[in-house]
Amino acid sequence: VEDEYSKPQPDYDDIITTLPVGDSWNWSLNLYKYQGFWYTSPHLKGVISARQRFKPLDKDVILCTYPKSGTNWLKALAFSIMTRTNFDFSSHPLLTTPPSTCVSYIEFEQAQGINARREFPLTSTHIPYSSLPVSIISSDCKIVYICRDPKDAFVSWWYHANYFYDKEPISLEKAFDLFCQGIVLFGPFWDHCLEYWEASSERPDKILFLKYEDIKRDPSYYVEKLADFMGYPFSLQEKADGCVKKIIEFCSFETLSNLEVNKSGKLGSVIVDGEYPAKIFFRKGKIGDWVNHLTVDMANRLDRIIEEKLNGSGLKF
Ligand code: A3P
Repeated sequence: VEDEYSKPQPDYDDIITTLPVGDSWNWSLNLYKYQGFWYTSPHLKGVISARQRFKPLDKDVILCTYPKSGTNWLKALAFSIMTRTNFDFSSHPLLTTPPSTCVSYIEFEQAQGINARREFPLTSTHIPYSSLPVSIISSDCKIVYICRDPKDAFVSWWYHANYFYDKEPISLEKAFDLFCQGIVLFGPFWDHCLEYWEASSERPDKILFLKYEDIKRDPSYYVEKLADFMGYPFSLQEKADGCVKKIIEFCSFETLSNLEVNKSGKLGSVIVDGEYPAKIFFRKGKIGDWVNHLTVDMANRLDRIIEEKLNGSGLKF
């Protein structure tokens, strides 16, 4: 059947070659600035294509995140909540599929027509709010955003980025300086968070804004809140049966990071040719690991930038 997805994808080079270029974090791909945010060309092609082609499903839930803020955790939680009557934990898809594959990305698989016909109304994206496809904004689908302390998100990014270096790894200091300038894939970090924060203040029924640290501290409260918001509330019977607790345990860092599929599995990449390890998404899973990496001066510098950028918004880390 001829549809949007069976048409060949244009390469969008005419758009990309006109864009400002930024330091690429020692990757072999440039970063380009498009609508105020930085992308490599494969990411950007996905974003532009998604803006032109993506159509949400009826009752879609879209998980939106800045990278390294808990995307995989949120994917596992939302997927387990949504499919809890379809699967039990002994034969669950997350036992054999990494969360990043289990829930597709709009700008990768969806925009390219891969896995476009989804079984469940759940997908995800790193696209900033202001660049989301209009089809999402104008639909009645729900958006869940998760953000994280920028110092921890940065440290996690630095490890992640160094899986893809071209000639040599990027030093922590150089990566930090670029992060503080806002030059980072899908960055600036603060604009990404702020846009979703403001949109969720305006439309709290459409956008749920979550923080990694809050879920860590009180998982039961936030998992119930997430289920309510998604339209899959837990019944009294389910709560009495410990269903919330089971989902939290199943999606915990300890459980997921110890599954064989997440220890030795491989994922496809748009950044490098070939595959990269699924374990890239399961490093430490802790709050505050930045203290083991950043000097006091570095932490103060980023804190000051974030304070200034978020000033008056009500959003705090
Ligand atoms: P660290 O590098 O600080 O350990 P993303 O999924 O957005 O790429 O984010 C990855 C970060 O989330 C990594 O942080 C990773 O360890 C952490 N993470 C992955 N699964 C998690 C889970 N189930 N619970 C808590 N944190 C998790």
